[in-house]
Amino acid sequence: MSKVILTGDRPTGRLHLGHYVGSLKRRVELQNSGEFDKIFIMIADAQALTDNFDNPDKIRDNIIEVALDYLSVGLDPEKANLFIQSYVTELTELTFYYMNLVTVSRLERNPTVKSEIQMRNFETSIPVGFFTYPISQASDITAFKATVVPVGEDQLPMIEQTREIVRKFNATYGNGEEILVEPKALIPENSICSRLPGTDGKAKMSKSLGNCIYLSDDAETVRQKVMSMYTDPDHIKVTDPGKVEGNAVFTYLDAFATDESFAEFLPEYKNLDELKDHYRRGGLGDVKVKKLLLNVINKELEPIRARRAEYEKDIPGVYEILKKGSEAAQKEAAATLAAVKAAMKINYFEDSALIQGQQERFNNK
Ligand code: TRP
Repeated sequence: MSKVILTGDRPTGRLHLGHYVGSLKRRVELQNSGEFDKIFIMIADAQALTDNFDNPDKIRDNIIEVALDYLSVGLDPEKANLFIQSYVTELTELTFYYMNLVTVSRLERNPTVKSEIQMRNFETSIPVGFFTYPISQASDITAFKATVVPVGEDQLPMIEQTREIVRKFNATYGNGEEILVEPKALIPENSICSRLPGTDGKAKMSKSLGNCIYLSDDAETVRQKVMSMYTDPDHIKVTDPGKVEGNAVFTYLDAFATDESFAEFLPEYKNLDELKDHYRRGGLGDVKVKKLLLNVINKELEPIRARRAEYEKDIPGVYEILKKGSEAAQKEAAATLAAVKAAMKINYFEDSALIQGQQERFNNK
């Protein structure tokens, strides 16, 4: 069976370091591993509209931001198909058929949907489109026969829901055949990368909390953000012993620093463990640790910024990449939709045996 990746992001803002360690970096590695037959990376504008239907400009403006973020981290349109969800209208058609296979109570139990409903104060009036987006996400995944879906941990319930839909579809309509493919989620190996805290130490980087470092932030912006990061509030004097746990600066170092970072930027320490020990003992100031972090982050972001600057010079070219990718994605989804419709016996005009058979029946009446 061929190995296919599908994943994507809602275009509701620029992508940040949380996206980067949680998913983007891995995608680029997977892309460059050469192990996959096809890779689809989707800008999920239709899904973004399910909770931003009244703010279409926000979605429209962020398509290019997300596309630039993708290209600048090293997703390569020659190897990965970058496309826009709404262009592939087959996805909405699949969603309509999959809706028959999912119960309202099953959707209500989806933990991601549950917490999103709370976050958005949708409790008393949930838009139907939003409520059913897990079904549409199943269409995104199955339309491309994805075998692997690299996502953050919060997306696991979506993949589980997709697997259920696939099983139900195949059992109901497959006639012994596997029309749809059950995907597997691929989540970050380490829990820090799964959930990078904000610069304020809060649980998650999130645009609404204003605690993000964006991939498109320039060096000066990153400097200001890192220098004002949350550390250990009880570490007041340099000589005070400090806490590493829950200290966002150290959490980021956990996510980004390697032994080479120390050799390059802070050779008095061999590795992060030594630095942590010193901080815990006391005698190590926050500024020194933050400067290390700043260097480490900037080293990671420098090539990303350089690529972004190149693509920013040719915005029509970026849209062309998305258009080509969307056309190719549509072909792929159309083939799956045709198979789905045939399995569901709603392919009347393609089925000459049906028409002929009925003719004979009427002739013999
Ligand atoms: N739900 C994802 C997010 O919040 C975006 C998304 C839409 C997606 N369809 C997908 C991710 C299919 C993986 C597979 O960012």
